[in-house]
Amino acid sequence: MNLVSPEAAGIHTTAPEAATPAPVPPGQGSEHGHQGLPGAPSPAPTASPHPDLAEILVTEEALRAKITELAAAIDADYAGQEVLLVGVLKGAVMVMADLARALTISTTLEFMAVSSYGSSTSSSGVVRILKDLDRSIEGRHVLVVEDIIDSGLTLSWLMRNLGSRHPASVEVVALLRKPEALRVDLDVRYVGFDIPSAFVVGYGLDFAERYRTLPYVGTLTPEVIAAG
Ligand code: IMP
Repeated sequence: MNLVSPEAAGIHTTAPEAATPAPVPPGQGSEHGHQGLPGAPSPAPTASPHPDLAEILVTEEALRAKITELAAAIDADYAGQEVLLVGVLKGAVMVMADLARALTISTTLEFMAVSSYGSSTSSSGVVRILKDLDRSIEGRHVLVVEDIIDSGLTLSWLMRNLGSRHPASVEVVALLRKPEALRVDLDVRYVGFDIPSAFVVGYGLDFAERYRTLPYVGTLTPEVIAAG
């Protein structure tokens, strides 16, 4: 696995700067690569603005730049087509909101909720639909929007489930992936960052429903995980 530099993940030796939304013209900044960045932002000790976090793996700045890059690649690939974005609740809510607004192609939004692993930090592999799509996806170009791929079991199951509903196509955009944790062969068209196999929170990702609203992605301290 190639590793991306901490700089590519927006990691600096000081706390991340305050966010300044930077409008970027559509179509800019993408190399139309389908495998995301060539590797993982390796953890580097950074000053965490939150006491429960050990370190920040992907800063707010890096997340924003990556969403812009992913949106440009998707815009180019689906030019002239309408895409149904299927967000997987609740973790994908932030990436869904930001990605959907960064896209210039015609899109509609749907959400599904499937069971993952509650307050534990490892995959159960048991998948259950908690909330299904509101309408048929037959003949539609479906793009599943995922927060993170860990073992890949959830997504693998979801792809089979959605594929059986006769869509025109089903692809995946995942903000984060843990390549070392993958237990199934998955064809993920768009990947934001490959990260190490640590449990992470922020930007939609939770630990026992907490930390979803942090604007960056980071690891928890061992004390917080032990207490959870
Ligand atoms: P998988 O089936 O092991 O790939 O796990 C998929 C789901 O587990 C994700 O959509 C998340 O909801 C959750 N998950 C996996 N890794 C993490 C993590 O590091 N932090 C928070 N949630 C995670």
